[in-house]
Amino acid sequence: MNILLVGSGGREHALAWALSASDLCDTLYCAPGNAGIESCATLVDLKDTDVDGLVQFATDNAINLVVIGPEAPLVAGLSDALRAKGIDVFGPSQAAAQLEGSKGFMKDLCKEFDIPTAAYERFTDIEKAEAYIRDMGAPIVIKADGLAAGKGVIVAMELDEALEAARDMLSGNAFGDSGSSIVVEEFMDGEELSFFALADGHGILPLTSAQDHKRAFDGDKGPNTGGMGAYSPARLMSQDLHDKIMTRIIEPTVRGMKERGMPYTGVLYAGLMIVDGEPSLIEYNARFGDPECQVLMMRLQADLAEILQAGAQGRLSEIADKVHWSEDVAMCVVMATNGYPQSYPKNTPINGLDEANNSEGVVVFHAGTAKDGDQIVSIGGRVLGVTAKGASVAEAQERAYAAVDKIDWPDGFCRRDIGWRAL
Ligand code: AMP
Ligand code: GLY
Repeated sequence: MNILLVGSGGREHALAWALSASDLCDTLYCAPGNAGIESCATLVDLKDTDVDGLVQFATDNAINLVVIGPEAPLVAGLSDALRAKGIDVFGPSQAAAQLEGSKGFMKDLCKEFDIPTAAYERFTDIEKAEAYIRDMGAPIVIKADGLAAGKGVIVAMELDEALEAARDMLSGNAFGDSGSSIVVEEFMDGEELSFFALADGHGILPLTSAQDHKRAFDGDKGPNTGGMGAYSPARLMSQDLHDKIMTRIIEPTVRGMKERGMPYTGVLYAGLMIVDGEPSLIEYNARFGDPECQVLMMRLQADLAEILQAGAQGRLSEIADKVHWSEDVAMCVVMATNGYPQSYPKNTPINGLDEANNSEGVVVFHAGTAKDGDQIVSIGGRVLGVTAKGASVAEAQERAYAAVDKIDWPDGFCRRDIGWRAL
């Protein structure tokens, strides 16, 4: 197969690393990729949302399978445009990607198909929203309906904060159109866990769990980020919880999407709140998580190209028996540029990457990197995902931080406590 991978982050480096190891993969292309992905794929200079350009490239280069990493091209309709040309795609259609793209859509699906989730109402009118918020009281959660780069959720501990968030969103000041409709929902108090499954329109292949660390600083302090580190499997995971997540959440979702005439093909990334052992759906993402994908790929013992092709072709049941996971724990420590998630410098030099990469059980995945001559430089907020495998959380953590310490990057920082809940 010739495979085109779309995206440029740490998630895509992990996918490229796994895809390029497949015997089924002849040529792997990545658009636009990064300096790390270059070591396992041919880079293509096209933006991930350049739908016409990507379709043209896939047609011209006899691409057999397109794997879409991030959400923006999904929401832009890249899958639909490729499928219209008869090209196999791993990733949901624009309509199905609403599971991530519209919080209201996802909540309504939960209501219709009896999927456990926080109680909610949808509003476009500020007076009605205010009345509901006052009625429910704080803590309460206010969410912009559309995509808002991970910033569209306000968990308000005080009533005033909730009212202000609702006004900011509905006035269009906070997130433009993405906030012209909001979801107001009940606050859930529990522990978060991410669960991943693949769907092929009707069939489902459960993958495994991970736990992300969204705050910028140690002790879960500081601003929210795209994710500062992850480990897999998650601390709370058990067979009992796995079964509940599958039967109560993942299976009815795939059934519901099919019934709605928008069968779901791709990754279902369920953000879950576990309250007293019972899972409740916080949100869906229509893609792998970043950095959760990095730890999943480290533990996967199967041919990723074969799995994703089967997913794209509606044949997941045929390959389910071949998919196994290492008993090891994998941990990813994200290194970000000083200042992230606010403003940060660019083109800062990074050294010591080979030493780190050669450490036992370690792979350094690149996210926001580029080459300046022979020098690797940072060009983004989240820049590296130092990922290690070990027999326990403690061993994976020790290996990951030993590798982090070999990286010479004065302009970067990382959290020092990834995996703390499990330890
Ligand atoms: P989301 O983008 O929907 O995943 O929300 C971002 C974060 O807000 C989640 O990871 C949770 O930490 C928090 N959150 C969202 N909804 C709720 C809720 N109903 N109760 C408590 N925390 C929530
Ligand atoms: N790490 C969170 C995400 O990918 O959305």
